[in-house]
Amino acid sequence: SMKGAIFDLDGVIVDTAKYHYLAWRALANRLGFEFTEADNERLKGVSRMRSLQILLEIGGMDADEAEREQMAETKNKEYVDYISRLEPSELLPGAKEYLMCLRSRGVRVALGSASKNAVFILERLGITGLFDAVVDGTKVAKAKPDPEVFLAASAELGLDPADCVVFEDAAAGVEAAKAAGCRVVGIGSADILGAADRVVGGLDALLP
Ligand code: BG6
Ligand code: MG
Ligand code: MG
Repeated sequence: SMKGAIFDLDGVIVDTAKYHYLAWRALANRLGFEFTEADNERLKGVSRMRSLQILLEIGGMDADEAEREQMAETKNKEYVDYISRLEPSELLPGAKEYLMCLRSRGVRVALGSASKNAVFILERLGITGLFDAVVDGTKVAKAKPDPEVFLAASAELGLDPADCVVFEDAAAGVEAAKAAGCRVVGIGSADILGAADRVVGGLDALLP
């Protein structure tokens, strides 16, 4: 049975995926190319610098390291502008309730996110106290689909990955969780998350 639950942040707990998208699209448009929501699927769950690399590939562009650092910084500033206005109403349906439900059943709860803004977002949403462990982009070197983030989260919970269930909205995240040896619940559409053990539309579907 499930002893630990590891949650992705963006797109699972909070609707920040749209802000990542808006900030990346603004960058693409400034560089002179279109960036669609379908393109954006490839960035979900992926680290900031890897996301930029994919975006530049889509635009057929090259940039040296200094330029890339600058672009990523500009995108992040715009993203942080959005999330500094984030409100608890932007928690996804059922997210807070499901976290509380698991805790009341004695399940240990961790965050497993690629984001370097995760701690700030949890604070803005007032849900920091619902997590027994937080593993984010400041703590891991290898981005999803590498399993590092979920192995680290299981370890911080003191649990075997096989006793943990990961909740993920990104294909790269589902792949990472499987590679870690966790069970995975995909949050979103089965078309994108077919590799998960189970797919639901949102955490609200898991409430008793
Ligand atoms: C993931 C998002 O959670 O974090 C990605 O799904 C994002 O889209 C990544 O690129 C890194 O986030 P940040 O906040 O460190 O730029
Ligand atoms: Mg996500
Ligand atoms: Mg994520």
